[in-house]
Amino acid sequence: MNQTLAIIKPDATASGAAGKIIAHLESAGFRVRALRMLTMSSAQARSFYDVHRDRPFFESLVAFMTSGPCIPIALEAPDAVGELRRAIGATDPAEAAAGTVRRLYAESKERNAIHGSDSDDNARREIGFFFAESELLR
Ligand code: RTP
Ligand code: MG
Repeated sequence: MNQTLAIIKPDATASGAAGKIIAHLESAGFRVRALRMLTMSSAQARSFYDVHRDRPFFESLVAFMTSGPCIPIALEAPDAVGELRRAIGATDPAEAAAGTVRRLYAESKERNAIHGSDSDDNARREIGFFFAESELLR
């Protein structure tokens, strides 16, 4: 078993899709280990997406990610990182495979419903960004 971080993004909490997305992930075999709801500060969003700070979409991404509540979720499954990336689909919902979370619920390449960690190292960093070790339940 290993762990990864999903974030249900502000577009999906605003549209009322959060519960459906959590159900989708549980049906796909993930167990929820920790979950919270918050509106990220600009400092938090900048720090979380620091790897993208030089990309042209960075300021727009920070504005979007701080525009409303999001739901970070620590998930556990065999090959959690790879399985979550498969379950969420391509960044742009127009290119995401049928049945993926982004194809089902995302609005656009930026407002794309969900985040998924892209490596085991980043999963550890990103879970630690939102949760203390003692908050990861089993
Ligand atoms: P994420 O990190 O959120 O799971 O998404 P990802 O790996 O599929 O995509 P990434 O390249 O890491 O980009 C992070 C987020 O930035 C927004 N984005 N907008 N307008 C654009 O061209 C563009 N490209 C990326 C998306 O919200 C994307 O998920
Ligand atoms: Mg990414």
